[in-house]
Amino acid sequence: MAFRSLLGKTKPLLGFRPIDQRLGLSCRGLQTFSLPDLPYDYGALEPAISGEIMELHHKKHHQTYITNYNKALEQLHEAMEKGDTQTVVKLQSAIKFNGGGHVNHSIFWKNLTPVSVSGGDLPHGNLGWAIDTGFGSFEKLVAKINTEGAAVQGSGWVWLALDKELKKLVVETTANQDPLVTKGPNLVPLVGIDVWEHAYYLQYKNVRPDYLKNIWKVMNWKYAGQVYDEFTSQV
Ligand SMILES: [Fe+2]
Repeated sequence: MAFRSLLGKTKPLLGFRPIDQRLGLSCRGLQTFSLPDLPYDYGALEPAISGEIMELHHKKHHQTYITNYNKALEQLHEAMEKGDTQTVVKLQSAIKFNGGGHVNHSIFWKNLTPVSVSGGDLPHGNLGWAIDTGFGSFEKLVAKINTEGAAVQGSGWVWLALDKELKKLVVETTANQDPLVTKGPNLVPLVGIDVWEHAYYLQYKNVRPDYLKNIWKVMNWKYAGQVYDEFTSQV
């Protein structure tokens, strides 16, 4: 799936019109982002993840990243029009944090699916083979991700990624809301697990390893396999 499609719906930035719209030329009009719908009900991942967590996580946390990302984009646009370089530079951290939060959560929702659909079904096909080849077994991969995810200090993410140049699977972690691309331009996210406390605290309290143990019960390996096949088939 193209990365662009993971980012949800966009709408024109209020107050700005695409450049040269009247002339029908391609434009660089800024766009803002809106909260993507979840492909399942908030309670559909229970008992692995409670409906209360899912609703807060989606409606409040993800929405806040989007709201602040949109604000930063608007401020960036204004600063660039004024030639205000100091403000352009100052906005980079807000764009990275909130834009990263939007990117990461948009992937995370797709990584999960109810058990009644295919949640927790083991990866098979090309991705299944690649996991066995790269990590020895599926169980060893899960153990590695759980160990690295539990060891993330503070807030962050643990990822199963495809290095699309080397055609190799890797496990990575990122801090805060840094998206995976900050660890390498060739890394394609297949599975991203949110290890911020807001993702599990209401249900698992401070026991992040229990959350990591249970999230595999609602993992959407079908989605990860589709992304893997798409990027490994590219020449
Ligand atoms: Fe989150």
